[in-house]
Amino acid sequence: MSLLDVSGLTVRSASAALVRDISFSLAPGERLGLIGESGSGKSLTSLAVTGLLPDALAASGSVLLDGHQVVGSRDADLRPLRGPVAQIVFQEPLTALDPLMRVGRQIAEPLRRHLGLRGAALSSAVATALHEVALSDPRIARAYPHELSGGQRQRVAIAIALAARPQLLIADEPTTALDVTVQDGVLALLERLVAERGMALLFISHDLAVVSRMVDRIVVLRNGGVVEAGSVAQVLQAPAEPYTRMLVDSARALDAFLDAKETGR
Ligand SMILES: Nc1ncnc2c1ncn2[C@@H]1O[C@H](COP(=O)(O)OP(=O)(O)OP(=O)(O)O)[C@@H](O)[C@H]1O
Ligand SMILES: [Mg+2]
Repeated sequence: MSLLDVSGLTVRSASAALVRDISFSLAPGERLGLIGESGSGKSLTSLAVTGLLPDALAASGSVLLDGHQVVGSRDADLRPLRGPVAQIVFQEPLTALDPLMRVGRQIAEPLRRHLGLRGAALSSAVATALHEVALSDPRIARAYPHELSGGQRQRVAIAIALAARPQLLIADEPTTALDVTVQDGVLALLERLVAERGMALLFISHDLAVVSRMVDRIVVLRNGGVVEAGSVAQVLQAPAEPYTRMLVDSARALDAFLDAKETGR
């Protein structure tokens, strides 16, 4: 059975359909990329999948998350799924972190709630969670989010998302807000953790190079609809749709530009 099965998902505001009739599925342990330009509906799709759409927007169609219907469900019924089943890492880590709570306590919270850890076992699990995201300095646990760098904050956000051991990690442009050099470290970390834990990954980005490194299959969105879907190799080597071809061409042009710059030509 699929871990995530999206079928005919549509998201509407009062005036427009923002996501239109999209379908895709994800098996346990599978890695899927959602790619498309700004405004194509990537974030709304990830919010609809976890039942986190803002009140002004309405979803229709079907989203089965581990067999549970998300569309039309009450928030209270979805809460138990967020954590052990699916978790999102957002683009801007500060939105996911509580500015007034020390980092260690924020990581402890899901460990206590979902895994029932207490006392010394909880402290040791917090230290392990930080160690896993390469933040081994014990001072980090006592720091407040504003005392950390952008890359450190995103590592903390990843540690929080992974604390309840989700089967599916949804990463919505997790490195776009970061410096290029820091980006690479965070992507490598995500790649390693997903592989080690055999998690499924829904990886969202407008950057084709980043997506193709992280996933096996790609769904291309444009104006809220799916224009193309296939394996990374299929889509990159033989893009069927003009829009995808344009994305591939512009990624190649950028690569060529950067290569030329590096060699000083
Ligand atoms: N709360 C909202 N109310 C009305 N329209 C919205 C709302 N949130 C998003 N939209 C619109 O829905 C469309 C899709 O937005 P979405 O955030 O999913 O884009 P995206 O693909 O994630 O873009 P980006 O790459 O810039 O993050 C956009 O046209 C956006 O303006
Ligand atoms: Mg977005």
